[in-house]
Amino acid sequence: MAENTLTITDNRTGKQYEIAIENETIKALDLRKIKVADGDFGLMTYDPAFMNTASTKSRITFIDGDKGILEYRGYPIDELAEKSSYLEVAYLLLHGELPTAAQLKDWNWNITHHTFINESIKKVLDGFHYNAHPMGMFIAMLGALSTFYPDAKDIFNEESRWKQVYRLIAKVPTIAAFAYRHRIGMQYAYPDNDLTYEGNFLNMMFKTTELTYEPNPVLERALSVLFILHADHEQNCSTNAMRSIGSAHTDPFSSLAGAAAALYGPLHGGANEMVLRMLNEIGSVKNVPDYIKRVQAGEFRLMGFGHRVYKNYDPRARIIKTVAYEVFEVTGKDPLLDIALELERIALEDEYFVKRKLYPNVDFYSGIIYQAMRFPVDMFPVLFAIPRTSGWLAQWAEMLDDPDQKIARPRQVYLGERTRSYVPIEKREGKIETAKA
Ligand code: CMC
Repeated sequence: MAENTLTITDNRTGKQYEIAIENETIKALDLRKIKVADGDFGLMTYDPAFMNTASTKSRITFIDGDKGILEYRGYPIDELAEKSSYLEVAYLLLHGELPTAAQLKDWNWNITHHTFINESIKKVLDGFHYNAHPMGMFIAMLGALSTFYPDAKDIFNEESRWKQVYRLIAKVPTIAAFAYRHRIGMQYAYPDNDLTYEGNFLNMMFKTTELTYEPNPVLERALSVLFILHADHEQNCSTNAMRSIGSAHTDPFSSLAGAAAALYGPLHGGANEMVLRMLNEIGSVKNVPDYIKRVQAGEFRLMGFGHRVYKNYDPRARIIKTVAYEVFEVTGKDPLLDIALELERIALEDEYFVKRKLYPNVDFYSGIIYQAMRFPVDMFPVLFAIPRTSGWLAQWAEMLDDPDQKIARPRQVYLGERTRSYVPIEKREGKIETAKA
């Protein structure tokens, strides 16, 4: 019997099948030869929420959840956070290698010179109600941008593909900041191409009467680190949405609108907002032990704790904690930090959390930093989407160039009625079959 194979016995028929193992996986399609009768469809796997299914081979992001390791293209996240800028990391994600000085200069120039948006898009934005959620506007603007760039449909033309990459990475901060300014009723602040990517974003968010906005270098750097940490996280919900939509050969603007919509959900990009609400609710360090007791009793979850993949300290949370102290040197300490630190201290020693391997995740400290930097809470998912754009695009391009990939189209296990006779309206009983699996 060949090594690296799996032998399966079908107890229905007594037949044995040998299935190849490659990269610690078996191909689900290999199971289709397992049948009772010749005309059968063959065996499928049932895996709602992809709990144990690899949907792709990838060379972009590596995570070892048990050891708490995160690497982009093989580079540890803490080294990138310490030594790189966000745009350099975006280059790495999309090209697979760190740029030379000349390549980085070229890349930065290309991104910087696509930051403006067509004036007509402002009219789309002006149509939103004054209290529209910035993430809702952000998603709509991405979809709207696709109508301005019909050349984006040419997804297998290399030159066109790169152009859309420049446009998207460059324009997401602009539409994010414009959505915020619309929300608070302030005139739009246009991009300043003399500033860095992060500095320009702060300029478009917060510029008021000054002729030239001067971003605080500590806050600019903190934003760069936060952007690096959020740039990619392999096959998460929104990335899966990006790949799935893109697999229909949809243009990248529309695909990205779909990915951003997935990120908007509170189970994904919305958790940092929930952490902030939780810390405010706790209100004081002295209330922490009681709050932990209520979590243990199953009343609610400790937001910003736990992760599907990490069963160890999320490496991003460790870096964010350091950044928080740097930011507070400039902004003054947010009193919520003391509550967060006490929560973390007690939880890390507590049997409930230790037994379940629950550690702080990326969202535990990021909200406190964003708040200290004057970003309103409803901008938090948008702040996640800006850097994740480079990850979504890298994953999208990898999917398009992967000969194994086709249009994403899962199977189902059908449990409903079959081939019934049509009932005339006067003979129907009015029973309602509620949706259940
Ligand atoms: N507080 C208290 N108990 C928890 C928590 C928590 N934050 N997270 C998990 N548990 C418990 C859970 O009750 C269960 O206990 P038991 O075995 O007694 O039933 C056990 O730990 C396993 O939980 P699970 O729900 O099976 O774990 P999961 O991998 O399906 O969920 C999670 C992962 C992130 C949804 C979950 O840990 C959670 O809800 N955390 C709070 C929300 C949060 O911080 N989300 C941000 C995730 S990171 C950013 C991103 O992905 O976008």
